Amino acid sequence: MKKVLALASTVALALIFSAGCTTTQQLQKEEIALENNDTPIIIAHRGSSGYVPEHTLLAKVMAYAQNADYIEQDVSMTKDAQIVVMHDIFLDTNTDVKKVYPDKAEKDERYHIIDFTLDEIKQLSVHERTDEKGKVVFNNRFPYTDELDLKVPTLEQEIVLIQGLNKSTEKNKGLYVELKQPKIYPDHGKEFARKVLAILAKYGYDNADSNCYIQCFDPFLLKYIKYDLHSKLRLIQLIGDNSADDRDIDYNEMLTKKGLKEIASYAYGIGPSISQLFTNYGKNPDLKLNNVAKWAHEAGLRIHPYTLRNDSLPKGLTYNSICDLLFKKAKIDGMFTDQPDLGVEYVTKNFK
Ligand code: G3P
Ligand code: CA
Repeated sequence: MKKVLALASTVALALIFSAGCTTTQQLQKEEIALENNDTPIIIAHRGSSGYVPEHTLLAKVMAYAQNADYIEQDVSMTKDAQIVVMHDIFLDTNTDVKKVYPDKAEKDERYHIIDFTLDEIKQLSVHERTDEKGKVVFNNRFPYTDELDLKVPTLEQEIVLIQGLNKSTEKNKGLYVELKQPKIYPDHGKEFARKVLAILAKYGYDNADSNCYIQCFDPFLLKYIKYDLHSKLRLIQLIGDNSADDRDIDYNEMLTKKGLKEIASYAYGIGPSISQLFTNYGKNPDLKLNNVAKWAHEAGLRIHPYTLRNDSLPKGLTYNSICDLLFKKAKIDGMFTDQPDLGVEYVTKNFK
């Protein structure tokens, strides 16, 4: 009962932030957003993570109330093969795990989700993101506190929440699920992708018209999902950075005309970083587009870049000036943002 009341107050609190009550006109606009490829979508990155701790149900309700089209889930698997929603495959940057389970770190001094059961993870409190040393990453966001005792959600809980809100508000907001670091699971004898797809299918997300995207940085996993698991869901190839990410994957090659054509053979779209669409992002406020967006569209790919953050903008640029370049010049089809309210406001003013 306590849990139900807590969730109810969360929903009520977040709906207060909604841009307004649902009108017929608003519903019509949302139908258009889902059907018209020309209307870009706004994806709430880790929920409304610019305002409340990322990937909590509170952040998801707030994103929903702010009218994001899609709400993101980064997912990992627990020791007992449950799927939880957290950005990192570790628990230490977003929860009080060091306090609760001081002896459960691995040799790398990290607390790996795969070493914990769901019951153990449910004992933890989620707080605003810190770095590995415990320093808060975004100083002007929600205060660092364990007082709220926010929990790590499972994928199923999050789906139940979004589908519940879809019913009660008569809207149709979607899921945008990222499978995190799939390569770690075979060593643990776990079928990560199969389990995620089974959960999605249980709730009706199993075809190309499902209001759900699957995203991953690993092209091998996306191909496995398409060709071995025969999923019809829309797949998004995320594009990372060769210097930081998996050495088996050549993201620079993906950003070439040939590489983008190859991606189009298995994926519906790409998720590049915003900087990958420009020649000089972060170096000069007079941004110049490169050819990536043009080539991607020529290959038939949708483009959903990550991540616009209003509290981490390159010098000399504003949230809306970057949106102008992305949506009007690069003609992107959607965008990940930590402030979905600002993204929705921009798209509503400019495209609806
Ligand atoms: O999934 C798009 C974007 O979220 C990728 O970056 O690290 O925030 O998951 P990350
Ligand atoms: Ca993500």
